[in-house]
Amino acid sequence: PETGPLSIVVLGASGDLAKKKTFPALFHLYRQGFLPPDEVKIFGYARTKISDDELRNRIRSYLVNDKGASAEQVDDVSNFLQLIQYVSGSYDSEDGFRLLDKEISVHESLKKSVEGSSRRLFYLALPPSVYPSVCRMIKTCCMNKSDLGGWTRIIVEKPFGRDLQSAEQLSTQIGELFDEPQIYRIDHYLGKELVQNMLVLRFANRFFLPLWNRDNIDNVQIVFREDFGTEGRGGYFDQYGIIRDIIQNHLLQVFCLIAMEKPISLKPEHIRDEKVKVLESVLPITYDEVVLGQYEGYRDDPTVPDHSNTPTFATVILRIHNERWEGVPFILKAGKALNSRKAEIRVQFKDVPGDIFKCQKQGRNEFVIRLQPSEAIYMKFTVKKPGLEMSTVQSELDLSYGQRYQGVTIPEAYERLILDTIRGDQQHFVRRDELKASWEIFTPLLHKIDAGEFKSIPYKPGSRGPAEADELLERAGYVQTHGYIWIPPTL
Ligand code: BG6
Repeated sequence: PETGPLSIVVLGASGDLAKKKTFPALFHLYRQGFLPPDEVKIFGYARTKISDDELRNRIRSYLVNDKGASAEQVDDVSNFLQLIQYVSGSYDSEDGFRLLDKEISVHESLKKSVEGSSRRLFYLALPPSVYPSVCRMIKTCCMNKSDLGGWTRIIVEKPFGRDLQSAEQLSTQIGELFDEPQIYRIDHYLGKELVQNMLVLRFANRFFLPLWNRDNIDNVQIVFREDFGTEGRGGYFDQYGIIRDIIQNHLLQVFCLIAMEKPISLKPEHIRDEKVKVLESVLPITYDEVVLGQYEGYRDDPTVPDHSNTPTFATVILRIHNERWEGVPFILKAGKALNSRKAEIRVQFKDVPGDIFKCQKQGRNEFVIRLQPSEAIYMKFTVKKPGLEMSTVQSELDLSYGQRYQGVTIPEAYERLILDTIRGDQQHFVRRDELKASWEIFTPLLHKIDAGEFKSIPYKPGSRGPAEADELLERAGYVQTHGYIWIPPTL
């Protein structure tokens, strides 16, 4: 692996994302030896004037659970926190960034003895409204100056705009300052273990190759459910809604991996080329294949306007115009304040032609990839019910990770993605043209919602969402299994 002084700068160091995701991910990487202290320094940057120790104290409680921590973990936390230095400054003036650059250079000169050239990673844990100015400041003041090579990279996080036009504008602004290989657009769903498994499943197994098409698959569902509401994030959420928060990015990325053709190779550009291709083959969304919902009580949040029509639930059907998928509905469904918390992909196969068991069966074949919680891959199929009678029952072939891979810790999405950035692997990041294609799909619908022309149907918190969404599923051809439910095995 590459060596040399590595400076990781977390901008927005005292914000929620940094505390909850970025620093814990860095800590896990540190514990596993990926951030060697003789090379690495972590800089926190934000406007608040606080000391190094104050920042460290704010982060500490997010790193380990105080009660359950072993002495070794407590030591690791202290050692990790020592790698962190705080710099305060504004996001749009050069003073702060010049100071930051000075501190980074001090670190780099202290590590001169480390072989390799200097590497600078900027993690923008900030609202996108400041991305352009922050990027300009980094470009003006903080680029890697070594003539021996090395690099400067930036990590940005959604929301990348609100629609096609604003996203393109943001991309242009950032694109004028950084080249595409320097820009890492995070979609943390791409860092999830079972999302990363999709390409392996599809292209390394003979099983799926002949089945993965319109001749065999009836419909595909990609579902995200949360059993809590917007909880304190109402102000942010109301500006965006569930389509921009979850569907246009997280679920659409999963959609690409299910629907895309086989890439020429595993090279990141080959994979991303295929994703763009499938996105560009998506037909315009038809409005009678969309159901929007808003949970009752959402507007009680003081930061949410009283008459908000922002959807907290949506079911949207995508259709692909190509040889493999014509006629197969891809049902993307996401909702907050529902009856359960899970994310899964459900591929439902067609009925058996001329089925002699039809009247006995509980349901169709399904291939389910449970992304979270209780990661699993299971196939629902019909077998003879054990016993003297000749009757059938739905059963499953179950690969539950907790059971099959006991003792293996599944890495956090952010941890993996930050490591990819350090290694320069852009496979699991969103390319500019991919982002554009994804906004092209949803922008007309979003504009219609924004104009108040598409109403969200109220639903009870803790329910399945609006009944209209289940009706839409049925219309699309999804057949619910009766009398069978998959239960994650307990150890
Ligand atoms: C974020 C959304 O991107 O993803 C949140 O902004 C959502 O609204 C979260 O809760 C879900 O992530 P995960 O990894 O918990 O499924």
